[in-house]
Amino acid sequence: MESRSLGTDLSRRALLKLCVVAASALALPASLGPVMAELAATRRRRPVIWLSFQECTGCTESLTRSVAPDLEQLLFELISLDYHHTLQAASGAAAEEARQQILSEYAGEYLLMVDGSVPTGASGGYSTIAGISNLDLLRKCGDSAAAVIAVGTCASFGGLPAAAPNPTGAREVAGLMDDGQIPKRPLVNVPGCPPIPEAITAVLLHYLVFERFPALDERRRPRVFYGATVHERCSRYHHFAEGRFAQSFDDEGARKGWCLLALGCRGPLTRNACPTVRWNQGTSWPVVSGHPCIGCSEPGFWDRGSFYQALRSQSEQEQPEVSAAERGEALFGDTCIYCHHPGPKSFSTAPKDVPALLRRGTIGAHRFDFTDSQLADLAAYLKKLDGQP
Ligand code: SF4
Ligand code: F3S
Repeated sequence: MESRSLGTDLSRRALLKLCVVAASALALPASLGPVMAELAATRRRRPVIWLSFQECTGCTESLTRSVAPDLEQLLFELISLDYHHTLQAASGAAAEEARQQILSEYAGEYLLMVDGSVPTGASGGYSTIAGISNLDLLRKCGDSAAAVIAVGTCASFGGLPAAAPNPTGAREVAGLMDDGQIPKRPLVNVPGCPPIPEAITAVLLHYLVFERFPALDERRRPRVFYGATVHERCSRYHHFAEGRFAQSFDDEGARKGWCLLALGCRGPLTRNACPTVRWNQGTSWPVVSGHPCIGCSEPGFWDRGSFYQALRSQSEQEQPEVSAAERGEALFGDTCIYCHHPGPKSFSTAPKDVPALLRRGTIGAHRFDFTDSQLADLAAYLKKLDGQP
């Protein structure tokens, strides 16, 4: 394993191009592309351990479809993917030695990526790797990881393996962290069955460059990809708004491209970037191809699937309560982070004075108009960091 800087192998021009594309995928201003490239050139290639538990290899398959960066750039120039069951050349004892080496030599530096849910039943006996249960392996590798990326709906929310009656006691990474069964580390969920390839790689690149994840929502999803429902950005939305619904897959409405709500579309309850980023290098996505969204990126996927049955009511949508500090943290990650990379601890202004400072508009580079409630959320977050009530 080597720890060369990102700029060593990847030519400056290629790095700049990659960062401009990534900035666009992350909905950042185009001017941040060169800033990202400059920062990236100073970063070292991060060692990455990728653990696959109860999964179908769809997430890895999706990763190989990324175009910005493509898999080759990602593996050979941006990260050092030193342990991945499907992609690594080593096997058996050699593979396990490589994992041990990363744990001891790069403690606190390596990134841990996980796909698949973790079986907790039968004392972990449902799935073992090198004689170690999935839960124990996650615990060991999570202990000194810089951060964890849960790739796919299974790792993010349990997914298909956790569907009733959940015979293996399948769990998601976040729940195990919250319960104290595995070490608490910075965590991002990138759900989807599988996730959009560019969502995986853009989140990874954001971490490599800014050493933190992009702003997350209350379910630890990057808001840039999961901030809106599929429905809100659907190209059939005007048919929905005007009450035109296909009633069967072969009726006139279906042929005319009407809304698929009556055929079980879960777009109104599903947060994902399919309508904007699309699949297969921006070619298409399920609804454009004539199939309803089946909510593959949401918690409860399968048990709450309602395949081909129309949604009953909006009450199916369960949104967790979000505190002011959590909203403030998301706002900070969405806006402030791009100038204040080290984080809010580097501020010289007391938390309580930040809203007034921003309201006065004395920060020349500031390009956002915050509402009063946003400023209050920001102050709540900064106070929380300061240990204030
Ligand atoms: Fe919404 Fe689905 Fe209809 Fe698109 S097809 S407008 S996502 S309900
Ligand atoms: Fe999944 Fe719905 Fe997109 S089923 S792939 S989130 S359109």
